[in-house]
Amino acid sequence: MSGRIPVIAGNWKMFKTNSEAGAYVAELLPLVADADSVEIIICPPFTSLAEVRRETEGSRVRVAAQNVHFEPEGAFTGEISLGMLREIGISDVILGHSERRQYFCENDADLARKVSAALGAGIRPILCVGESDQERESGRTGEKLGSQLRGGLASIDGGQLAGMIVAYEPIWAIGTGKTATPQIAQETISFIRGTLAQQFGAEAAASVRILYGGSVKPGNISELMTEPDIDGALVGGACLSATDFAQIVKFG
Ligand code: PGA
Repeated sequence: MSGRIPVIAGNWKMFKTNSEAGAYVAELLPLVADADSVEIIICPPFTSLAEVRRETEGSRVRVAAQNVHFEPEGAFTGEISLGMLREIGISDVILGHSERRQYFCENDADLARKVSAALGAGIRPILCVGESDQERESGRTGEKLGSQLRGGLASIDGGQLAGMIVAYEPIWAIGTGKTATPQIAQETISFIRGTLAQQFGAEAAASVRILYGGSVKPGNISELMTEPDIDGALVGGACLSATDFAQIVKFG
């Protein structure tokens, strides 16, 4: 037993209006009320964060943002600060999702600033890393993950790493229905843990939770969760249904 508490996080991406968010939370909470050995996180769009946070008050469900800016405030049109998230009770933030890297040009240097600013503000980062199809096929997975980890975690120490979450999300498995086999996910996450051990020491690497993400569904979560290094899942499409998400929280 690793002693690491499993985490199931649902990334809503750009789905659900505020009223749809309210209906979802009302449906979800009773379904996961007895799932007390798993940490549950939902990640709505900015417009619903405050509402979802209010509605989950007193429950075990944590609420995360999908992005944040690293500066405390300023002339950054369209951006949201850590202080704004903190004031409404947001505890976690997804950083470096492959869609942000691909469509919004986020790079590892931006992410290093976001990770350390979030930790400094008391908001836990969920840093996403992952390789593309071509990178895997040409044997460059390790190189890509190594550079994302070194870059994105450049400004923190081992104690801080232990308190955050890393998500391994192979780009070829996101929204494609093509899940990494449990063996590939385990092998790659074990590689990530080894890389973190070199960077931050064995103790920090053994404490950090590392999630798998990419086409996770009620039907494949249980076999993923039997792997020793997989500490949970970051779920996209399947989390949009409260019943499917609740099933994933209970490992199918
Ligand atoms: P998916 O997305 O579950 O729809 O593949 C995962 C993610 O992008 O976090």
